[in-house]
Amino acid sequence: MTENAVIFDLDGVIVSTDDCHYRAWKRLADEEGIYFDREINHRLRGVSRMESLSIVLERANRPYTTEERQALAERKNGYYRELINELTPEHILPGVMPLMERLKEHGIKIAIGSSSKNTPLILERLGLANYFDAVADGNAVKNSKPDPEVFLLAAAKLGIPPAQCVVVEDADAGVEAALAAGMRVIGVGTAACNPRATLTVDSLADLSWEELTPCFNGV
Ligand code: BG6
Ligand code: MG
Repeated sequence: MTENAVIFDLDGVIVSTDDCHYRAWKRLADEEGIYFDREINHRLRGVSRMESLSIVLERANRPYTTEERQALAERKNGYYRELINELTPEHILPGVMPLMERLKEHGIKIAIGSSSKNTPLILERLGLANYFDAVADGNAVKNSKPDPEVFLLAAAKLGIPPAQCVVVEDADAGVEAALAAGMRVIGVGTAACNPRATLTVDSLADLSWEELTPCFNGV
């Protein structure tokens, strides 16, 4: 039997930490007198911390040195970690646990493919630290989405060829990363309007098994 896997993005797919990211960047931007809103925040989905900072600083009225940028990124991360420290298993998004349980029952491997360096802390807070067959995150890759590196790493850790992996993503950058990895991709939440995704649903709670399984057969 062909082995299959589902690789889940973390932020915005398993849990709404995307809002925590927004609040932490907003706090930093307000303190620095830099304009920042939810539309700009949307562009930060899936991209690394330092690349996110560069986008935030597009609205700054002065240049920032490398040292200053490092300090800003660390400050934002401190604000962010204050927020994610409050996470509990109850914050896991609707539909996520039933889907993952069903995948496990069917012998389909599951992994995390996230740009976040905070992945270990978030998984621990959610009670999912030992739940996945493999975790690939921002601590292990050089190139952030839309580069396929994190998904290819997840597939390699699982020992499953990329063509047999399906990605679940909420970011347009993540949809592109999955396609570049040669994987099919389910767009959820903010990627539910992405025409490049193989399949789209507003929430994983709306994803039926009948819709999902054809994705494993090269649809
Ligand atoms: C991604 C988020 O999962 O992780 C991005 O969608 C974030 O918004 C990126 O910038 C990096 O996160 P962290 O936790 O390493 O700062
Ligand atoms: Mg995401």
